[in-house]
Amino acid sequence: MCGIFGIISTKPDLVVGRQIREGLERLEYRGYDSAGIALVNNGKIELRKKSGRIAVINKHGWFDSTPGQFGVGHTRWATHGKPIQFNAHPHMDCTEKIAIVHNGIVENYQDLKKELLLRGHKFKSDTDTEIFPHLIEEFIAKGFSLKDAVIETVKKCHGAYGVVVIHADTPEYMVVARKESPLVIGIIPGETTYCASDIPAFLPLTREAIILDDDEVAILKPGEVEIFRVYEGTQKEISPFEVSYTMDAAQKTLDGVQFPWYMIKELHEVPQKIKEQVQIPQTDLDEFCKGIMESDHVFITAAGSSYYAALAGKFQITKFGGPYIEAILCSEFIDLVPNIPKNSLIIAVSQSGETADTIEAVRHARDKGDAKICSIVNQIGSSLTRYSDQVLVTTAGPEIAVASQKAFCTQVTALTLIGLRIAELYHTLPPMEIKAYRESLANTSSITKQILLKQGIIKELASKLTEYNNIYFLARGISYAAALEGALKLKEVAYIHTESYAAGESKHGPIALIEEGFPVIFVAPPDQTYSRIVGNIMEMKSRGAIVYSVVSDEDENVTSISDYVIRIPIRKNKYAVETSIVPFAFSLQLLAYYISIKKGLDPDKPRNLAKSVTVK
Ligand code: F6R
Repeated sequence: MCGIFGIISTKPDLVVGRQIREGLERLEYRGYDSAGIALVNNGKIELRKKSGRIAVINKHGWFDSTPGQFGVGHTRWATHGKPIQFNAHPHMDCTEKIAIVHNGIVENYQDLKKELLLRGHKFKSDTDTEIFPHLIEEFIAKGFSLKDAVIETVKKCHGAYGVVVIHADTPEYMVVARKESPLVIGIIPGETTYCASDIPAFLPLTREAIILDDDEVAILKPGEVEIFRVYEGTQKEISPFEVSYTMDAAQKTLDGVQFPWYMIKELHEVPQKIKEQVQIPQTDLDEFCKGIMESDHVFITAAGSSYYAALAGKFQITKFGGPYIEAILCSEFIDLVPNIPKNSLIIAVSQSGETADTIEAVRHARDKGDAKICSIVNQIGSSLTRYSDQVLVTTAGPEIAVASQKAFCTQVTALTLIGLRIAELYHTLPPMEIKAYRESLANTSSITKQILLKQGIIKELASKLTEYNNIYFLARGISYAAALEGALKLKEVAYIHTESYAAGESKHGPIALIEEGFPVIFVAPPDQTYSRIVGNIMEMKSRGAIVYSVVSDEDENVTSISDYVIRIPIRKNKYAVETSIVPFAFSLQLLAYYISIKKGLDPDKPRNLAKSVTVK
């Protein structure tokens, strides 16, 4: 979380303030409660920062007109200190010569701050970040160069950081450092160097990139980069690579159609993204399958929507003949599995590949227990891929709307493919059945397309559901993952309090809340759970609930006892039914989008959220 973008260039006509502001806007998905820019301007730091979104702050060109030759900007997702002007980044030292932006959390900042206060430093914010400029100030006063002052400073900090440091008296370079928070460098050799927390910040400007690793510090000069290892003190050879993707994803246009929001544009991408996912070469899955089948313990871990995808995936892999897989929220992993059993495999699922909790789980499993790590990641080159033995890349492409949707759909599809490949390689299902499942899975692309063509009922139900403050989502078996995803989406983009329960569990407590008119959404495909779901619907109805059900096209029983239904056009056979979780979940993602719109909210950037959660 938090977006960082810095520029140092020899280009004579460059309006640095404007270019940094534009780069920050491309990173706003990482945090958007406040923003700021600091430029070195003829031996002084020019600092501008405010709370609010960049477009509003820059309405009259406030950021664009910042005078200066080079510098850095930041868009914030608050951790330490409210999202108000004085907590916004950049932060400065007492001499106001040093400015710094930071992404991550310094865990020992309170101790460091206490010491700095005792030594007379004046703090202007409640952030953990502000210890950086004051520590650097001290090392510089002791005669260290800016680079060495940064190295000595980061050695004192525990936790995670991606930092960029500029100094008013050092106009020839700036310094960046990284530990467990992403930092990438873009370069136009001999002319300009960029640094950012993610590639899209500089992608329209250069495709040549370098990824900074943990415990590394880099000196950035115009079109020139030198990287040093913090603890060894040695210089590292740089290895730039060419970024292969484009900025098309940054447009709200798809196939010539202009959409009002990224979320609905990206929901319209789902059919194509599923199609691309099922077309990946089967052999790409073999090492993954081997790892799963040859390990004594298999865990799957993730956060949020990716965790729900993991739940669905674990269900499919086990059903198709794979081993029992233990699903654990990544934020709970180190506490629940302090001792990693021998010969374990961890499947980590993540859109961004930067989620701090997922990375912590994986590092714990690898470093404490020698586990093998297989990751399903959407962002190529992200931190998680660097901690993994095997990586399967999902085909969702860049997802800009903060709430996951196409990423979830491709994650579930990828995990289902793994299950089917295990069935094929280890002969746990007859070939005819594998073929039938694969065809049905491929057909989910067309089902999601049909759902998009018939959105009328979803829009109609969205109008009815806007009036509620509380909604239950109930389902059984694999559909429980769809219910969890639908409930989370509604919380995120429509600010409605939702709870999702395994339907059988509802009578063990949650049913106490049901009274006349309480809305309950059931996910009810015609699978082996169907008759039990009918029972759960009756229990809710008889206590006055208004029942909304997501059912298959030809459903009769659930339809007859529900007040409203969304119909999913799936074929009437077990293969189609057992691979239909994505279309069922997709209809709920679409429902959440329309409820958000009806309520006049911003579905792309919900309050308090950020796309990449790089703090624990
Ligand atoms: C929900 C959502 C989040 C993410 C979660 C994990 O709509 O987007 O719950 O799924 O933060 O993020 P990744 O997949 O990047 O690890």
